[in-house]
Amino acid sequence: MWRTSVERFAVLHDYANAATPIGRLRVVKSTAEVVLITKATDASVLAHKAAWKAIKPGQFEYQVATEMTNVYFEQGCERHAYPPIVGSGPNSVILHYMSNKRRMDSGEVVVMDVGAECSDYATDITRTIPTNGKFTPRQREIYEIVLGAQKAAIAAMKPGIRMSGDATSLTQIVRDYFNSHGKDLHGAPLGKYFTHGLGHQVGLDVHDPEAAQTIQAGMVVTIEPGLYIPEENIGVRIEDTVLMTENGPKVLSAGLPKEVDEIEKLVGK
Ligand code: GLY
Ligand code: MN
Ligand code: MN
Repeated sequence: MWRTSVERFAVLHDYANAATPIGRLRVVKSTAEVVLITKATDASVLAHKAAWKAIKPGQFEYQVATEMTNVYFEQGCERHAYPPIVGSGPNSVILHYMSNKRRMDSGEVVVMDVGAECSDYATDITRTIPTNGKFTPRQREIYEIVLGAQKAAIAAMKPGIRMSGDATSLTQIVRDYFNSHGKDLHGAPLGKYFTHGLGHQVGLDVHDPEAAQTIQAGMVVTIEPGLYIPEENIGVRIEDTVLMTENGPKVLSAGLPKEVDEIEKLVGK
């Protein structure tokens, strides 16, 4: 049985799938690649900031998405790194929500997972903000827990640590943090509301090939913990794109604030 048309035309050759070795070549980024990921990141940071300024309850999610994507296209980025996600209220708890068609209400949070691709290189950034510029006490509590978990994971990043898969991994740090901070409305720990992976490699694709599970200097990864609590219509994800250096993690998207006070100072103003 012939496997490919190439094999049919050149029968005396051996064939192997190049995806795995090429994936390995993509794990550690060159300086030039980091420059391009940084360009995509900087443009996306501007996009998030523009949306924070313009956002008002009563707008549609797609208006926010358009505001953002216009900014990075004007910055010279040619594509979305992935379809923009702007999910408010009940949509904030839906992973991969992309229809962006709901009218946002006051008193809700909105998850904005929006990033550009510039010169073929991607970035991946999420922030969660209150539509009316002020978190409710409960939203703030959940937000602070996600932020604390994200800071714990970034602080633990070093060459040799695993993203997931063992008891000392970054994922385990986040899961332990969630299970030891806060509770749901029934008194249960929050870990079960963290329903996706902690992160992935970023480069030519927003999800670069997962050729390495162990963090190495020169890798660019996302750190994106989240809690999604449908009963409360509260979904919070905080996602940064991070370069691992020999001297520690460098958060490429650090120009976009994530402290509650900073967000409340900027949203709607
Ligand atoms: N924006 C896609 C992701 O966070 O993986
Ligand atoms: Mn991501
Ligand atoms: Mn994302």
